[in-house]
Amino acid sequence: MSKKVGILVGSLRKESFSRKIARALKTLAPAALVMEEVEIGELVMYNQDFDDEGVAPSSWSVFRERMKNMDAVLFITPEYNRSVPAVLKNALDVGSRPYGQSVWDGKPGAVVSVSPGGLSGFGANHHLRQSLVFLNIPAMQQPEAYIGHAADLFDANGTLSNEKTHEFLQKFMEEFAVWIETNALKKS
Ligand code: FNR
Repeated sequence: MSKKVGILVGSLRKESFSRKIARALKTLAPAALVMEEVEIGELVMYNQDFDDEGVAPSSWSVFRERMKNMDAVLFITPEYNRSVPAVLKNALDVGSRPYGQSVWDGKPGAVVSVSPGGLSGFGANHHLRQSLVFLNIPAMQQPEAYIGHAADLFDANGTLSNEKTHEFLQKFMEEFAVWIETNALKKS
């Protein structure tokens, strides 16, 4: 049976390397995975008052509903100051509330960090994983995905052109499909 995977990209930049990697992952995914990019840039910054007073902004409600219907979630994150960009952390926070109604609980996930630098977003990757533990997102452990030197991986059209990265990401998506199947039973 096919599984719906929400892709969350932690960059709003037009020429984002993370977004380009997300697009590549979409095309490399096995047929059993239906990959959908979920936009997070319009989400109002999390403020607990809105939930406590029952006046959640529509951007939150739409996002929560959409993510509830996903079987899995794939995070593609750049690294900002050795951590996760605010836009992605905000999406995690919005999806985690109101208390007891988290959209993340038990949903299998995977993390890909992307950077033009050589450290490949390791800090962001692992800071994100810290939140995923608390949110009870079983995050695939192997293969880990640290995509470094990102500026060298694409052709002039922004398409992934590095053969080794292509091969690795294809394998990554195959493993993720298995991970989703294995962990799907733990949902609900
Ligand atoms: C960065 N960048 C960066 N890179 C990195 O490898 N480690 C870091 O800690 C940071 N910190 C950081 C902070 C801020 C505020 C910005 C704007 C940038 C550089 C970053 O990797 C680069 O801009 C990427 O191109 C961002 O990812 P996208 O937008 O290409 O997906």
